[in-house]
Amino acid sequence: MKNICVIGVGYVGLVTGTCFADLGNNVTALDINQQRIENLKKGILPIYEPGLKELVERNVTAGRLHFTTSYEEALRDTEFVFICVGTPSGVDGEADLQYVRAAAEAIAQHMDHPMIIVNKSTVPVGTGDWVSDIIRNTQPKPIDFAVVSCPEFLREGSAVRDFMNPDRTVLGSSDQAAAEAVAQLYLPLRAPIVMTDIRTAEMIKYASNAFLATRISFINEISIICEQLGADVEEVAEGMGFDKRIGHHFLRAGVGYGGSCFPKDVRALTYMAETHGMHPQLLRAVTEINNFQRKHVALKLRDLLGDLQGKTIAILGLAFKENTDDIRESPALAVAQILLEQGATIRAYDPVAMENAAREVPELVLCQSPYEAVAGADAVAVLTPWNEFKNLDMERIRDSMKTPIMVDGRNMYNPSEMREMGFRYRAVGRGCNGDGVDFNGE
Ligand code: UDX
Repeated sequence: MKNICVIGVGYVGLVTGTCFADLGNNVTALDINQQRIENLKKGILPIYEPGLKELVERNVTAGRLHFTTSYEEALRDTEFVFICVGTPSGVDGEADLQYVRAAAEAIAQHMDHPMIIVNKSTVPVGTGDWVSDIIRNTQPKPIDFAVVSCPEFLREGSAVRDFMNPDRTVLGSSDQAAAEAVAQLYLPLRAPIVMTDIRTAEMIKYASNAFLATRISFINEISIICEQLGADVEEVAEGMGFDKRIGHHFLRAGVGYGGSCFPKDVRALTYMAETHGMHPQLLRAVTEINNFQRKHVALKLRDLLGDLQGKTIAILGLAFKENTDDIRESPALAVAQILLEQGATIRAYDPVAMENAAREVPELVLCQSPYEAVAGADAVAVLTPWNEFKNLDMERIRDSMKTPIMVDGRNMYNPSEMREMGFRYRAVGRGCNGDGVDFNGE
C-alpha cells in the first residue's frame, strides 16, 4: 500500500486515482474546483465513464479514496504525486501549460518531505524539465524530489479497462530509482514497462496519438477515393487489416476523429515541429483531412437535399464517440454547426451527451429518442456509433420522415438493405458495395 496524491479529477486523474485505490493504495484526489470535489464526496461524478461510478463508491466506502481541495491535506505523507491536469490547445495549437504550472507551484509550496512527482498530463517535450525548474525555484526550502513522465494512454468509454489492462507503461526520468519506484505501482498490471529518459517518454505519447490519428486520416482519405472509384472502404480496411504488419485497429472510416486528445495532440506536435523550424507536412495533412471529413457530411446532405436553408435535419449522436458524454472536438457538433450556418434546423438525439452539447450549441432542438428526432425531418445524419443506433426500427424511421434520406457518417448500416427499404442512403467510402448503384451510392 502506497500513499498517492492525484491532482486533477478530470478523465485521467479520476480514473488513475480510483484505479490505484482499487489496487489497494491510499489515494487522495485533489481538484481546485470546489463544486467537483463536493459532488464527488456525494458520489456525483463530473464525467460519464462506464464502470467508474461503482469503482469510486467501492473505494470511498473502503476508505482508500479521498477527495479534497486542500494541497496541505493531499500532500501529507504522500510518496507519489500524479499531475493529471488539463493541457488545452492554445491559439496556435500549442499546449497551454497554465494548469501544469499552477499544480507544480502549489506542490512546491506545500512540499514538506521528499516525493516523486509523476506527470500524466500530455505535455510538450521538455515540460518535465520545466516542471523540475518550477518546483526547485518555488520551494520555500530545498527538499528532494524527482520528476517522472508517465504518459496516459487510456481511452474514454473504456478508461477503467484500459487502465487495468494497459498495452505498456512508459516511464521517463533522469532519476532511475524514482522511475523504478513508480514502476512498482504498475507491476500488478503485468504490462511491459518501457524505461527511458523524460523527453523520450513525452514524445512517445505524442507520436502514439499522432500515429493513430494518421491511420484514421489515411483510411478517411482512402474512403473518399473509394467513393469516386466505386470501391467499399469497409472491405478495403478489412482486407488490409489481415496483414499482420497493418492490423485492423483504427482503420474505421467515418466523420473523422474528435475528443480531448487526437485533435489537440496532433496540433501540438505540429506546433512543436514548426517552432523548431521544421515542416511537418504529414501532420498538417492529417488535420486537414480530418477537418474535411466533417465538411464532407454537409456536402453529401447538400447534394441530396439541395439548398439546406429551411430544411430540418436530424442528427443521431452528439458525443465525439460512443460510450462517453464528452463532446470536446466532436465531429457531430462540427457537422451541426456547418448545417446551422447553412440555415438548417437541427433536431438532435444522443443517449448521454445532450446536456453538454446544448451548452456548446444552444440552437440544437433536443429530442428524447431517435424516433422523435427524425419525425418530419428532411434527412437524418448518424454521427456517433452508439450501440442503440445499430438496431433502430428503420421502417418506422422511414415512415415518419418527410423524405427518407440518410447520411450514415459511421458506416453503421448495410447499404443494400437501406436502399431496398427505400432510403436514399449515403455512407462513407462505400462507393459501390456490389449493389449496382452508381459510384456515389445513389
Ligand atoms: C485517444 C487514444 O486512443 C488514447 O490512447 C489517448 O490516451 C487519448 O486519446 P480517446 O480520445 O478516448 O483516446 O478515443 P479513441 O477511441 O482513441 O477515438 C478517438 C477518435 O477517433 C474518436 O472520435 C473515434 O470515433 C475516432 N476513430 C477511432 C475513428 O474515426 N476511426 C477509428 O478507427 C478509431
